[in-house]
Amino acid sequence: MDQSGKIVILTGAGLSAESGLGTFRDEGGLWAQHRIEDVATPEAFQRNPDLVHAFYNARRVQAAAASPNAAHHALARLQRDWPGEVVIVTQNVDGLHEAAGAEAIHMHGALAGALCAACDHRWTAPPEMTGGDLCPACAAPQTRPDIVWFGEIPYRMEEIIGHLGQCGLFAAIGTSGQVYPAAGFVEEARLAGARTIELNLARSDVSGAFDDHLTGPATEIVPAWVARLTGAP
Ligand code: OAD
Repeated sequence: MDQSGKIVILTGAGLSAESGLGTFRDEGGLWAQHRIEDVATPEAFQRNPDLVHAFYNARRVQAAAASPNAAHHALARLQRDWPGEVVIVTQNVDGLHEAAGAEAIHMHGALAGALCAACDHRWTAPPEMTGGDLCPACAAPQTRPDIVWFGEIPYRMEEIIGHLGQCGLFAAIGTSGQVYPAAGFVEEARLAGARTIELNLARSDVSGAFDDHLTGPATEIVPAWVARLTGAP
């Protein structure tokens, strides 16, 4: 691809695994310890807001203590050094892309954010949220983590689809490709004529959808891939 081409990169939990943040579907992952329908749906939040808050409070504390790894730093370098546009779309709700100096579209929201379900006001989440918190704007007791739950529509989809329609290269890093709409991005990119590459610890069920593959831990394969793209030593 010529160096002016747009690159779209989709990232998932595998990117932050080596920063000490657990993935969802690997052995012993978050969805082996918690039921999605208890902690990650609007219905769960209506039923038991304190349980849902406790789940995200724990993850917020962990994410705040984590540091970006070599893969986050390599992606930040690519975004800075590539002559064309590099759009990072993340399913991760940690802030590790930003901590590495990159900009990312948070399609599944962010642990650092709080949202009022009554008036849509957004603010910085305190480390610990509870079901009794009041919205600072409208005082409704309906404050929630600014996280997209199962059954809700991910953020900034129109913008993401627009980028996919114009990209020359699409990469999916550390994601199992089990959750739509993100799992469908590779097809959108292919329709736009992009070359597609999967970077993952192991071949996944959706590997067949990609032209190219790099297999190994993100902290090794992502810096190597970025160096190859940018011609850095
Ligand atoms: P998953 O837990 O489904 O998949 C993690 C992927 O990362 C797997 O394909 C692993 O092989 C890979 N992986 C693990 N360690 C790695 C490493 N060190 N280097 C490279 N790859 C590694 O996580 P996601 O695909 O991100 O949504 O999950 C997608 C969405 O499902 C999440 O955003 C979340 C979850 O339910 C919501 O909560 C709405």
